[in-house]
Amino acid sequence: TGLITLDLGYKNTGATLSEITYLDGDKGELYYRGYPIEQIAEKSNFTEVMYLLLYGELPTQNQFQGFEANIKKYNYVAEEMKKIIDAFPRSAHPMGVLSSLTSALTAFNPKAVDVRSKEDLDHAAEMLIAKFAHLCAWTYRKTQGFSLNHADNNLNYVENFYKMTFRMPNQDFDMNPVVVNALDKLLILHADHEQNCSTSTVRMVGSAHTGLFASISAGVSALWGPLHGGANQAVIEMLEMIEADGGDVAKYVEKAKNKEDNFRLMGFGHRVYKNFDPRAKIIKKAADDILNSLGIHDKALDIAMQLEKVALEDEYFVERKLYPNVDFYSGIIYRALGIPTEMFTVMFALGRLPGWISQWKEMRLMGDPIGRPRQVYKGSEKRDYVDMNLR
Ligand code: CMC
Repeated sequence: TGLITLDLGYKNTGATLSEITYLDGDKGELYYRGYPIEQIAEKSNFTEVMYLLLYGELPTQNQFQGFEANIKKYNYVAEEMKKIIDAFPRSAHPMGVLSSLTSALTAFNPKAVDVRSKEDLDHAAEMLIAKFAHLCAWTYRKTQGFSLNHADNNLNYVENFYKMTFRMPNQDFDMNPVVVNALDKLLILHADHEQNCSTSTVRMVGSAHTGLFASISAGVSALWGPLHGGANQAVIEMLEMIEADGGDVAKYVEKAKNKEDNFRLMGFGHRVYKNFDPRAKIIKKAADDILNSLGIHDKALDIAMQLEKVALEDEYFVERKLYPNVDFYSGIIYRALGIPTEMFTVMFALGRLPGWISQWKEMRLMGDPIGRPRQVYKGSEKRDYVDMNLR
């Protein structure tokens, strides 16, 4: 069968051609469809970014309005889904709930499974974009023990998500623009990141011609892990632990260097970036601005900044080119917005959704073959079966 080259963790394997996201890890540069992330984060909005990723170009006014209207057409979720939500214990981790609900959506929207043309594919994408925002908001409501809210079609995508998440019955809802802008920016910064673990999972599952919703459900599960999207939850837990332990950041930097301690500085390091993660730079500044404008002082931000300073001056981190990544400061913003720690990775998933869908769409339209890596076998030689009573 010829020589097989092993590349554990696909550290140096190009799995596809792609036109969506460009990433230069040495320079710390990230472009969506050619547009630098700094410009997009400052000037665009999440709905426009979803359009850009899905269709390849910034929308005209008409295209933007058409896209928003198409999403709003699907701004509901089958009532039966609420029974599934009811059945989960309140203590369930929101990412497990979200992944299950995403897969369950398939049963109630069978047409979206049978995607044959580009038009079918675009409908399935718009449908999932609308319904996934419900699933994220409802996951929060469930785990907090609150009733579920329906969509408000007078609002844009992010405002609607915000209201579905936080509106309490019989109370006026305060659409705080500082919070909405912060959410918008965070979602934009998470929208795509080329062939990361969850996106590769979505493409791999989809390469078997599995439907969009089930492929995305697999992506949610991949994102859940603490080495990937789950790092945003792990960072805040780490910062809280350091604070409770007296705030000695140097002690934890030392601990992270000692392999026997089996402890990593969460929110540090990246497979591709060997320089500052450009998203972390934007988020660090945003965290500072948002805390100031909401009048919040969070000790976790002080600890994070001290930790960053000590780590970046340490030879171990310098040699290995370990810098803060997107997850290092994002949790501080989520917390300031009133989002509980266990929900952080759900926020990442909501942001990453358009990236996953665009990559799935690209893979299907390019007709990529089924993903099927090889292995080097190192198990037992051929041997004969032994009856149980003779073992
Ligand atoms: N703390 C301490 N040491 C580290 C860290 C860290 N956070 N990250 C990497 N290293 C060390 C690692 O031990 C290894 O050292 P050595 O060469 O002595 O064996 C070296 O740096 C290279 O690391 P690696 O594990 O081979 O690198 P990788 O590309 O396989 O892993 C990573 C990348 C992001 C999984 C890893 O840096 C990590 O575990 N970071 C902490 C978790 C985290 O923040 N994840 C979020 C990633 S960014 C956004 C996202 O995907 O959600």
